[in-house]
Amino acid sequence: MLKCTLTGYPTVLMPRKSVQQIALMRDSSSTYGWTSILLHWITAIVVIALWFIGKSIFSVEPGAVDARRSLHVSVAAAAWLVILLRVVWRFREGHPRVRGQSLRIHRIAKAAHYAMLMALLVMLLSGPLMVWADGGNIDIFGLLSIPGPFGPSEALRSLAWYLHSKAAVVLFVLVLLHIGGALKHLMFHSDDTIVRMIWPGKVETS
Ligand code: HEM
Ligand code: HEM
Repeated sequence: MLKCTLTGYPTVLMPRKSVQQIALMRDSSSTYGWTSILLHWITAIVVIALWFIGKSIFSVEPGAVDARRSLHVSVAAAAWLVILLRVVWRFREGHPRVRGQSLRIHRIAKAAHYAMLMALLVMLLSGPLMVWADGGNIDIFGLLSIPGPFGPSEALRSLAWYLHSKAAVVLFVLVLLHIGGALKHLMFHSDDTIVRMIWPGKVETS
């Protein structure tokens, strides 16, 4: 039976329009769908904001440190599931071919993307561990408070803090290279690298 290459569903069971609509939500071997595009831009904005709020925690006067830390934890915890979904979605969908590049550059770009996702995962796990190992609850804008599943532990707090701050540096460097690479494509290459992360391209259905 003929199956849609994107959804895996038998195409005879689905009207052509709905095959195309599902295809627009998912990635193909050469394009990003709406799910990837929305997840990319929503999490890009949140992660850049979190990075700067995180780095500013200790740059304010001592009395304001707690407020800055609370803001960081609230925003991070509120976005936690969306960022996790973004990481899981990429591993589930695979990676579309990188545009107009040799196989070597394609592999480097892909590896950099996966390294960013791994750094994000480390931050998502180490952040909550740090709060709970400190004996606190994860408080989301005063609306929801999530207690830790274990008691305070100085060793765990230090390990989680170490991982969180090192992953933050790795993420920062990779994001700078990533944005530089995207701008290079925009200015010096005549390909659709940026466009396909803004609007789904033409999709191929069987
Ligand atoms: C993926 C998103 C995240 C990013 C980009 C991020 C970024 C940062 C950065 C840059 C710092 C400062 C580290 C340093 O000064 O070396 C920080 C600190 C911190 N982050 Fe995150 N973070 C994220 C997720 C989370 C999550 C999910 C939580 C907890 C729910 C969290 C809790 C904290 C706390 C409590 C601190 C302060 C550490 C301390 O008091 O010593 N972060 N974060
Ligand atoms: C202004 C900032 C940004 C721009 C202009 C930008 C641009 C792009 C473009 C054009 C692509 C498609 C590349 C391709 O497959 O050929 C892409 C993919 C990707 N970007 Fe960004 N990006 C930005 C911020 C970020 C940030 C902050 C992160 C990390 C949190 C990030 C992580 C990724 C990842 C992991 C991919 C691979 C596809 C995916 O999983 O979504 N980007 N970006």
